[in-house]
Amino acid sequence: MSKIRILPDALASQVAAGEVVERPAAVVRELVENSLDAGARHIEVHAQRGGSALIRIVDDGSGMDREDAMLCLERHATSKIRTKEDLGAICTFGFRGEALPSIASVSRFRLATREKDALVGTEIEVNGGKLTCVRDHGGAPGTVIEARSLFFNVPARRKFLRTENTEFSHVEQQLRLHAIANPQVAFTLTHNDELVLHLPATRDMLERVRGLLGEEMASRLLKVEEQTIRGITISGYIGGPGMSRSNRQMQTTYLNGRPIESASISYGLREGYHTALMKGQYPVTFLFIQMDPHAFDVNVHPAKKEVRFHDGNSVREAIARSVGRTLENAAKLPVGHAPAARTVLSLSQAPARPALSIPEHHQEELRISAGPSSAPLRQMPALVTSPPEEEPKLPAARAPLPAANEAKSTSKPVENAPSASSETTSPSDFRIIGVLRKLYVLMESKEGLVLMDQHAAHERVNFEKFRRALESGGVPCQRLLMPITLQTTPRDADVLRQNQTSLTRLGIEIEPFGPNIFKVETLPSFLKTDDPAAWLDQVIEELGSLSAKTSSLRLSEDAIATTACRASVKSNDVLSIPELQALLKDLFACEMPYCCPHGRPTLVQISTAELERKFGRRAPG
Ligand SMILES: Nc1ncnc2c1ncn2[C@@H]1O[C@H](COP(=O)(O)OP(=O)(O)OP(=O)(O)O)[C@@H](O)[C@H]1O
Ligand SMILES: [Mg+2]
Repeated sequence: MSKIRILPDALASQVAAGEVVERPAAVVRELVENSLDAGARHIEVHAQRGGSALIRIVDDGSGMDREDAMLCLERHATSKIRTKEDLGAICTFGFRGEALPSIASVSRFRLATREKDALVGTEIEVNGGKLTCVRDHGGAPGTVIEARSLFFNVPARRKFLRTENTEFSHVEQQLRLHAIANPQVAFTLTHNDELVLHLPATRDMLERVRGLLGEEMASRLLKVEEQTIRGITISGYIGGPGMSRSNRQMQTTYLNGRPIESASISYGLREGYHTALMKGQYPVTFLFIQMDPHAFDVNVHPAKKEVRFHDGNSVREAIARSVGRTLENAAKLPVGHAPAARTVLSLSQAPARPALSIPEHHQEELRISAGPSSAPLRQMPALVTSPPEEEPKLPAARAPLPAANEAKSTSKPVENAPSASSETTSPSDFRIIGVLRKLYVLMESKEGLVLMDQHAAHERVNFEKFRRALESGGVPCQRLLMPITLQTTPRDADVLRQNQTSLTRLGIEIEPFGPNIFKVETLPSFLKTDDPAAWLDQVIEELGSLSAKTSSLRLSEDAIATTACRASVKSNDVLSIPELQALLKDLFACEMPYCCPHGRPTLVQISTAELERKFGRRAPG
């Protein structure tokens, strides 16, 4: 007897639905996309209990006649493509004709729709994939779709639903994605009958961002001037240097209006941001890519979240170039013209070095906007300790150094920290008191107690020295008496071959010496390590972790430089007071004195006011 059977339609739909609808937010995505495809100008989304009890979408789009309303619930029924050629150039969100039947097969489903000029509309009810009722509908033109009791008939799926709040936050995030790309459409979102979002239609995308994410965030975004590079048009808004998150939630990118994720785009962003973005951090972006729909394929992901570009490298390069240019231009403008001129960094998010060096003649123009005085600043990092999800609020006051975290709270925003090159702070403002645990240099300043992590400070100083040496020709190196022989994996051998030029510029002369074997002849002369082979392993690992697709020389050089710096200081070197003073002076001559090349703070301040509060009395002035 044969073992293969054709699945009954209802079961086949449920299986297919598993791919399309994994949670309430996916239902919202599909329905909102249908409303947008139908030309809606107003879209209401109502959710109950995170969307698992009810999702209702009301739109004022084209609506459907009775025949279409019946047809749209059939699998592979779509009005959006007709031929194979259409599939190669999709300009609508939908194209598979799968969303509605999938949703209807795993919920108690109701569709009510009416075309604008029709006398009467159609209402259809489907229960877990079974049509239960078709009747006339007298509602307003447009379409209402309800999905109740999601997965009521698929307990295995239902089990995977998270808490109401989690599910709702996904719904909200989903709506936000579409709302940003469609400012001309008005959106409302309610949860358990409470209004959560009310976004009137606007022509201005920034206005929409403001409505969604608040004034503070919108005011700190940089506009990406629209430019077309090899047929790829890039525009939108991005966060300035230091504005970053620990997850990708705010890294939103759109391709012809469709929110998508793509490795080429991520690499392009990383490259564009360069060191303005710490390892493990993600930028805040609302970036729009427009290109010929023939140049990519959207039919590769069940939720259409990913696309396949025919030429991913061009996309990466176009993004890297326009992001890089946007950051560069922002650094040149005086405050008031460029929101990101007031760079906000967080202790955990600070970039390794200023994203871009500000040309000498522009330095004068930069003024910190906070505080009464407007001393010229080369750099204006405001160091804050805030949870990654929350944007720090900057107080108006200006203090010379970042304040220390309070013992309990790691999320207290602290004052702006002007650069060491400002008129207000210089090494002579600090009196060295002593060294704690061979690491923390305790110092007294006008503001209170300042601690310097001597190791981090050293790394920063060496990193910048190193970079300067690099920019002016090369890093001094020492020839090894006995060359080191490195036996590598084929992958690491590739990494080494690809980076040979950068390595030489960085003082590491390396030659192939056989299959997957290399000979190292020189090392940078500042290196202080007892185990150069282990250090080289670290360098290779660091280089390898950079994507093979990242062609940027700067990124590889910085990867080597940061690894090099780690080995440039020993952790418990005991330094004399004059040595510490020299270190402090060198640190303050740095472009970015407040964090080490890995983003950890070099200086931390506990203000006198804070000490007074803790001890409950005023210190004598
Ligand atoms: N809100 C709506 N207003 C008007 N027509 C709609 C609406 N929602 C769906 N339709 C019609 O129903 C059809 C089926 O919708 P469905 O979402 O199942 O498939 P699709 O959008 O064509 O493709 P995909 O499965 O990729 O989303 C659509 O092609 C469209 O013609
Ligand atoms: Mg659809």
